[in-house]
Amino acid sequence: MHIAVIMDGNGRWATKRGLPRTAGHVEGAKAVRNTVETAARADVDTLTLYAFSAANWSRPPTEIAALMKLFGQYLFGETRRCVEQGIRVNVIGRRDRLSDNLLRSIEQSERLSASCTGMHLRLAVDYSSQYSILQAAQRAGQPAGHGDIATQDFERLLQEVDHSARDAGPVDLLIRTGNERRLSDFLLWECAYAELYFSDCLWPDFDETEFHRALEDYAGRQRRFGGLGDKSAKSATSGELP
Ligand code: IPE
Ligand code: IPE
Ligand code: MG
Repeated sequence: MHIAVIMDGNGRWATKRGLPRTAGHVEGAKAVRNTVETAARADVDTLTLYAFSAANWSRPPTEIAALMKLFGQYLFGETRRCVEQGIRVNVIGRRDRLSDNLLRSIEQSERLSASCTGMHLRLAVDYSSQYSILQAAQRAGQPAGHGDIATQDFERLLQEVDHSARDAGPVDLLIRTGNERRLSDFLLWECAYAELYFSDCLWPDFDETEFHRALEDYAGRQRRFGGLGDKSAKSATSGELP
């Protein structure tokens, strides 16, 4: 099963407490740690977390710097724990606008966890789904590329463009916290048949109970994929619930 999460509401969490927005991001990083462990225990195959969108570059430089620093710290501090749990770490999104330091941390995390066969953790940084789709479409249209491109071939190109370590497949469940109901340019292709779950909870408050609440809600959904509701088609990827 592939779960994707739009981790939203850090700023509001902090503002409500009279704290600077960056304090919300620090607390949000703790929720990331917990969610990764909860998902791995729940036998999720792939977890894709939206950490920084391409549109987030429009935020104040100090907030961007704090987010990038936290991201580097997360990779530095968590990679070993991930490897111990068999979690393969992979960063998707653009790499050409990240600092050299961060790039080194990303490459190190990916290298150290490359042979892990448990959950595939994908952290989306400087990610824009529209950008990825456009890049893949351009590659598909190149002279040496395919004429009539099959969906699978296009998905392979998308995987390359995104630096995804392996085919993550379609998203089964998309969770968005922070009481917003939009996709904000996240995994537009992959969410074609995703079940959507919106939580009012602000991301730093998202815990194991909230995660299981989302899973329970998902378990009650009937996925039809345009058909008439064959119960055996519960999950697009594995055919099973976690
Ligand atoms: C999500 O929280 C984290 C990132 C976008 C990096 P926000 O920072 O968007 O928090 P709100 O939506 O302003 O509360
Ligand atoms: C989406 O949250 C991006 C991440 C969670 C990383 P935003 O807070 O940036 O989304 P909008 O601007 O409200 O759509
Ligand atoms: Mg937000």
